[in-house]
Amino acid sequence: MEEIPLPNGDVTEGVVRVGDTVRRPVGPHSALVHAVLDHLEAVGFAGAPRFLGIDDQGREVLTFIEGEVAGRPHPSWIADEERLLSLAGLVRALDDAMIDFGFPDIDTETHPDPPGIPPPQQRTFEFIGHRDITPENVVWRDTEAYALIDFDLVRPCSRMLEVQNALMYWAPLSHPRDRDPDQIDLDVPRRCRLFADAYGLSREDRAILIDDLIYGTERSWHLMRDRAERLGGGWARMWDEGVGDQIRRRREWLLVDGPAVTAALLAE
Ligand SMILES: Nc1ncnc2c1ncn2[C@@H]1O[C@H](COP(=O)(O)OP(=O)(O)O)[C@@H](O)[C@H]1O
Ligand SMILES: [Mg+2]
Repeated sequence: MEEIPLPNGDVTEGVVRVGDTVRRPVGPHSALVHAVLDHLEAVGFAGAPRFLGIDDQGREVLTFIEGEVAGRPHPSWIADEERLLSLAGLVRALDDAMIDFGFPDIDTETHPDPPGIPPPQQRTFEFIGHRDITPENVVWRDTEAYALIDFDLVRPCSRMLEVQNALMYWAPLSHPRDRDPDQIDLDVPRRCRLFADAYGLSREDRAILIDDLIYGTERSWHLMRDRAERLGGGWARMWDEGVGDQIRRRREWLLVDGPAVTAALLAE
């Protein structure tokens, strides 16, 4: 059967559609991904691909989910508030569905922190979360966020971290220079508040979200550089395209505009 390249991805080379399936390369993370997808199928969560097995070329076989995914350049609808609310509901439903999965003892390749990196934040993890809620990883049906795809970054997570991750791309929590044209003039504090309300984020989580992200930008700069050096491929390409500078600009922007976001998140 014909293999149709699916080009919207960030890092994975060789993602193709074959009939109503998707074939993707596997890696050290895949055992956990497959267990997560099997769990979501078992609990009847519709907003994720099903894991169908491994094909004769050793690739994972997933169901292809019909719908619309934002390509590049991103469509102007990524700024729609209606979609933002719908996405918050989908992410909440996913996270709720993951609670019973717990934290299975599955080997995932972990690397020691690269030298020079600030230590990880002290955190309480609540579930295995998606942690990569980019425009390219959401399937839409009309204005409804129907499914999340690309579970390659699933890892221990909390409600705060999952919302923080989604808001980075969808509020967006980025320097105006790094936003899509249709995102430049958005009311970011308002969008964060709308998302947090629709998700149902607690007050404690709202209070720490921005400070945690500011700290996290330091760590992600080091981690991205390390991945670019160690893994090459799409990671190296992203680094060469300036993702490191983008992370630094995010930090500068958050130091100035972050307090307004926190204020909006907490306003009575
Ligand atoms: N199960 C799926 N259903 C529908 N589209 C998919 C599916 N998996 C991948 N795609 C499409 O292929 C693109 C790249 O796949 P993705 O799994 O996100 O790879 P990457 O790791 O490179 O980001 C996605 O942005 C989406 O457009
Ligand atoms: Mg992707």
